[in-house]
Amino acid sequence: MYNVAVVGATGAVGQKMIDVLTEYEFPISELRLYASARSAGKTVEVNGQSVVIRELTDAIYADPIDIALFSAGGSISEQYAPRLSEQGVIVIDNSSAFRMQEGIPLIVPEVNRVELSPEKTLIANPNCSTIQSVVALAPLAEVYGLTRVAYTSYQAVSGSGQKGIDDLERGARGEEPTNYPYPIYDNVLPHIDVFLENGYTKEEQKMMDETRKILNAPNLGVTATCVRVPVRNSHAVSITVTLERDATVAEVKAVLADAPGIVLMDNPSELAYPTPLDANGTDEVYVGRIRRDDSQSNTFHLWCVADNVRKGAAANAVQIAQCMISQTATK
Ligand code: A2P
Repeated sequence: MYNVAVVGATGAVGQKMIDVLTEYEFPISELRLYASARSAGKTVEVNGQSVVIRELTDAIYADPIDIALFSAGGSISEQYAPRLSEQGVIVIDNSSAFRMQEGIPLIVPEVNRVELSPEKTLIANPNCSTIQSVVALAPLAEVYGLTRVAYTSYQAVSGSGQKGIDDLERGARGEEPTNYPYPIYDNVLPHIDVFLENGYTKEEQKMMDETRKILNAPNLGVTATCVRVPVRNSHAVSITVTLERDATVAEVKAVLADAPGIVLMDNPSELAYPTPLDANGTDEVYVGRIRRDDSQSNTFHLWCVADNVRKGAAANAVQIAQCMISQTATK
């Protein structure tokens, strides 16, 4: 049994981490919840017991914690995660702070759990859109090899936390947005995170860089366009993938149907294709609309949908924790 901490326990992802830990019956001896001074002293009901929220301070270093799940933003992770992990605490960090650092495992269990090892106690949880995309791409990479990937994402407002959901609801009431620069209600915004000098947004750059790292394919051609859509929850990603060796559509479908973490939902004649409403509340990645691109050899289109707060963040983090404890002797 383990003492588990959730840092950022009052946030959208933090709350979902608590739910997933409970649903998965994670072997917890004590659950310790941390947030800012604003939330300290409030209580949260977990499994019929009320757990007090603690203020995150340096006192955490002396707290008896075995595993810490961080989702309180990059600067909080930068401040606390390295020292905790040096103390031997298994830290799984949902921020982007450490994802591209060499030596830090960036993990999607279905894809690259072999990169985990007991001595690497700081582990990064990838970007939400990247997680679902690499679950779909990894089985194709293994069987056929990949030469190029082009993503277009359709990302739900829950990816911006409660403030994203609030802006959607504000728009529905005819009010102005306070989080996004333009209304998200009745609109789509080709803009997620800040713009970089190369013309991509940071979200797009994350998808490109993290895909190469997770698939261990430093030379893979990857491009991305990330779009915020007026959907409350679950991201969709349209993926165009060029394979090294050609396949038939039936073969691609068979490989995906057999792969871990994927639900194949692809039967156009019965209008079977995944939508965000199918993925909400689940931890699988749904794939459909698989078809050949007639304009380019060895190239296929996939439509891939997943719950961005669960598989894209909280559930993936808890699954990493499960992998780590299965590597070490139970206490
Ligand atoms: P709090 O609710 O006390 O502000 P989200 O990404 O959904 O906005 O959630 C952010 C999470 O990070 C919340 O749990 C928030 O706690 C927490 N957080 C923000 N700033 C700090 C801080 N300085 N110290 C600890 N937790 C913080």
